[in-house]
Parts: sequence; structure tokens; C-alpha cells
Amino acid sequence: MAETITITDNRNGESLEIPIKDGGVDAAEWRKLLPGIWFHDPGMATTSNAESSITDLNGIDGILRYRGYPIEQLAEHSSYLEVAYLLIHGELPSQDELDNWTHEITHHTYVHENFRKRFNDAFHYDAHPMGMLTSSVAGLSTFYPEAKDIEDPEVRHQQIVRLIAKMPTIAAAAYRYSQGLPYVYPDNDLPYASNFLSMMYRVAKPKFEADPVLTKALDLLFILHADHEQNCSTTAARVVGSSHADPYSAVAAGCAALYGPRHGGANEAVLNMLNDIGSYDQIDAFIESVKNGEGRLMGFGHRVYKSYDPRAQIIKSVAHDVFKVTGQNPLLDMALKLEEVALSDEYFVSRNLYPNVDFYSGLIYQSMGFPTEMFTVLFAIGRTAGWLAHWNEMLEQNSRISRPRQLYVGADERAYVPMSGRSA
Ligand code: CMC
Repeated sequence: MAETITITDNRNGESLEIPIKDGGVDAAEWRKLLPGIWFHDPGMATTSNAESSITDLNGIDGILRYRGYPIEQLAEHSSYLEVAYLLIHGELPSQDELDNWTHEITHHTYVHENFRKRFNDAFHYDAHPMGMLTSSVAGLSTFYPEAKDIEDPEVRHQQIVRLIAKMPTIAAAAYRYSQGLPYVYPDNDLPYASNFLSMMYRVAKPKFEADPVLTKALDLLFILHADHEQNCSTTAARVVGSSHADPYSAVAAGCAALYGPRHGGANEAVLNMLNDIGSYDQIDAFIESVKNGEGRLMGFGHRVYKSYDPRAQIIKSVAHDVFKVTGQNPLLDMALKLEEVALSDEYFVSRNLYPNVDFYSGLIYQSMGFPTEMFTVLFAIGRTAGWLAHWNEMLEQNSRISRPRQLYVGADERAYVPMSGRSA
């Protein structure tokens, strides 16, 4: 069987045979036959925008692999920094490589004092931490003007290290500011997740000791959020990066896209939804309201997964470990019941709507003491490695600037109408 497709232009009978390669066809070939006829694909649901060897996602079978390694195995055996190394470099590190990488990240956790005092403190007292994070990351580019030299692999590496290292510092600073608490400097004796928890929660004591179960759970959540191929925020980061803007600007674009409730903002929205539902006996009525189009079941559904999101499966089991330490989150029963009702309801079944990564993660975050406004920030910390891996891969491939076409459906040419000639 030929691995090709044939397109025929019925206006003139001309045909073109295009090879199918890696599950796609090259649109440049299509353009040869049909210049000026564009694929119309809002939401880019059927468009491949990249050739990537970072993350393999099969949404039909619920498979997720980073650089070929199943997410289940990475979740069980790896650490976030090792996974970040894997995503960016393509291979698991040797012990020496991991030690160097960890040392590099750990020694770039501090941010400039001007940033901390002047930039962060300029926000309104109740600023949402995602708004603070997004603008802070963009603001970092002004501290590292050399980052503009995106052609130099060494310069790229340095910014990758800085961004992965500083995201927790910036995130914790946003939280401390919102609470009116003094900032806590990074403690570089601590591993990545513990250091973040120390910057979040340390008060008075010289050292912060987080419960190892909670640190492990947070590190695992960072792993599960680390990459998800061409999702909305990664695409945003790539689009900005494709103009050869510096990586701080590209990652800020990723943060901005992540903020929305259809994407990374869903974890916050799930908690708000559970609180709004209020009690167990309101669940059926809530499900009916969703089916009547009065809102969405947040934390459910995915563009790519048409089966159970493997990340949600892992998070659900981690939740039980966390609750053994923190006590059970009172919203868990409601979430479990919602899932049970939705998974047996024709509306959700026929649309392949299953829990996604955000459905249970918020319950864990809440039990660990994070306010809901911080949930998407936690997602952003983990996803930073993925955004940067894609940004770096794209630049290594010397790819073109992102510049889609449109189908213009507006007015034809018309003459300017002076104010006196316009109707009210
Ligand atoms: N609750 C109720 N109905 C839904 C939901 C939902 N959560 N998600 C999709 N649908 C329905 C939708 O109304 C539509 O029905 P119909 O065919 O009758 O019009 C159908 O399912 C297809 O929906 P869609 O909006 O075309 O699907 P999409 O692929 O464009 O959107 C999504 C994917 C994730 C934006 C969407 O499922 C959604 O809004 N989910 C809730 C928000 C959420 O949990 N987002 C986190 C996603 S996972 C984290 C991440 O990677 O971002």
C-alpha cells in the first residue's frame, strides 16, 4: 500500500501525490499545487506545527512518554531535575552529569535584589500570583540582555538553567508578597522542591524541614507537569520564540497562555467549582447544569486524550499518600463522586470526557497549604522545563517564524466615509 495521499484540484484536474511521513503530510507540497488555498483549522486541531522528539503522546491509548520513557516509570524512579535534564538534553544523565546539572540549577536560584524589592513590591496587594509570575519572568529579560543571543548554544544553556532555577524563587516571592510575609532567600542546601517549600513557608526558624512525603509528592507533580508536547502554552512559547525573542519573553508567553481556565488555570477552577457545588447532594444537579450547557465540568476533557489522562491516574494515587500526612481533603469525596457520576453518564461517555491532570492536583495542593491562586503557578514551575526544551529544539532546527494565514471574510474595498456622512 502506497504511503501517500493524492490531492486533485477539481477546478483544473491537476493532481499531486504527497508522501505521508511520520503520520503527517508536508504542507509545503500542498502549497505547490494550491497556492492561496489555506487549510482552515481554528484551534490548530489537525495541524502539526513541529517535528519534535521530546514528548510522545497517544491520547487514544492514554500513553505519555518523555524522550521515550513512560511517564509512569519516570514518576516512580526519577526526580524533577533529572526529568528536566532528560527533556532538554534528550538522554538521562550520568551521575556526574546529574550532579553538575543540579549544582548549576541550585546556584542560580537567587534573583537580583532590585527585582525582589522594586519589581515585585510594585504589585497591588492582592495581585494574582500568575499575573505576577508572568510579568516577572518577562521582566527578568531586562536583567540578562545577553539572552538575546539565541544563536549561541552556551548562552541558551545559561538562560535555561537560570529560568528553571529562578521560577520557584519568583513563585514563592509572589506568595510571600500576597501574605505580607518577608521574603525567604533560597537555601541552596536543599533539593529543588524542598527549597521551594522553604521559600514558601519558612517563618522565624533558620531551617525549614518539609515532610518528605509532601516534598516527594510536589517533585512528582512537577514531573507530571513537565511537558505535554504542543499544548497551548508551549505553542505560545514557541510562537514567541520563533521571532527570535529572548527565552524570558518566550516563557512569559507560556505563563500567560497557561493562566487561562481552559489550560493550566483549570486546577484553580476545579477547586472553585467544588466549593461552588458545596455539598455531595448537589452533584447530580450540577452535572445536569453542565449537560444543559450552563458551564463545564472543570478538570475533565482534553483536546488529545480520549481516554483517562495517565497523569490523573498517577495523581489520584499520590493524593492518598499526601492525605495520610495532611488528613483527608474534605473535597475529595465530592471529587470522587463527581468522577463516578460523570464516567457513567452518556453525555460525558459519548464525548470521551475523562478526568485530566487538573482534576485531582488541586486537592493535593490545597492539602499542602497552597492557596488556590498558587495552583497554576505550581503548574508553571513544572512546565518551565518543557517550554525551554521545545524552545531550544526549535532553535536547533533553525525553524521559520510562526506566521499562519487567515481566511478573510470582511468587507471588500470601500471608500473612507467622513464623520458627517456616517449614520448615528
Ligand atoms: N465539561 C462539559 N463538556 C465538555 C467539557 C467539560 N469539561 N469539555 C468538553 N466538553 C464538551 C463540549 O461542550 C463539546 O460538546 P459538543 O460536541 O456537544 O459541542 C465537546 O465536549 C468537545 O469539546 P471542545 O471544547 O470542542 O473540546 P476541545 O478539545 O476544544 O477542548 C478542553 C478541550 C480541555 C479545553 C475542554 O475539554 C475543557 O474546556 N475542559 C475543562 C477545562 C480543563 O479541565 N482544562 C484542563 C485541560 S488538561 C491541562 C492542560 O494540559 O491544559
